[in-house]
Amino acid sequence: MNKVFAAEQLSKTFDPDTSPIHAVKDVSLEIFENEIIVLTGRSGSGKSTLLHLLAGLEKKTSGSIFFKENDYDKLKPNELTCLRRTEMGFVYQFHYLLNELSAQENVSLPLKLNNVNHDRAILASIEILDSLGLGHRIDHKPSELSGGEKQRVAIARSLVHSPSLVILDEPTGDLDTQTSLEVINSLKKFVSDKKSSLLIATHDDNFQKIADRKLMMDSGIIE
Ligand SMILES: Nc1ncnc2c1ncn2[C@@H]1O[C@H](COP(=O)(O)OP(=O)(O)O)[C@@H](O)[C@H]1O
Ligand SMILES: [Mg+2]
Repeated sequence: MNKVFAAEQLSKTFDPDTSPIHAVKDVSLEIFENEIIVLTGRSGSGKSTLLHLLAGLEKKTSGSIFFKENDYDKLKPNELTCLRRTEMGFVYQFHYLLNELSAQENVSLPLKLNNVNHDRAILASIEILDSLGLGHRIDHKPSELSGGEKQRVAIARSLVHSPSLVILDEPTGDLDTQTSLEVINSLKKFVSDKKSSLLIATHDDNFQKIADRKLMMDSGIIE
């Protein structure tokens, strides 16, 4: 199997000079094509920090990260941004949708940033929203959507450009059991259709069923 991603001895210390918090400690991790990895651990164990480091959204304190043949340390900031835009999808714990844009416009943003033709971007974003059960909400703005609907818009936005790695931070936290199961099935279908990989931090037991590999984080360490 092809390796998509590797982190070696990755660490992150917040506030190193005042009262240091060792949020991630010497984590090594490999992710292969077509793999679903589920990361659990109590609140404060370092899951979000680890996901942000892996996506290059947060600066590591030490260690190395490779995406396919790219070493993060050797990429210029714009190259890392470009890599993230084209090859990765990220679902934040707190959505971060743009309030002034409709669901469809939020979802088509990654395609716009990748210079995809306007009409194709609209079609692809409607299609992915539809597959997540939001076909009837495409013109609504985030303020007009429920927490669960916003979460699904954020998931749609992370998938629309068919990234090879999707990182999801507690993606079903606001969803009822039935909707959560539907979203999980859509994610599983996405992985098999696109040969992508998923790394999911979650407390949702329903993810355990589709996990190829389960990881547990405690006090910054993967056990
Ligand atoms: N920006 C930050 N500055 C200082 N400490 C932080 C910051 N972000 C997270 N932390 C701390 O790092 C630890 C891990 O947090 P986090 O990665 O959010 O855990 P989880 O996602 O598992 O709940 C916690 O002790 C948290 O308070
Ligand atoms: Mg978190």
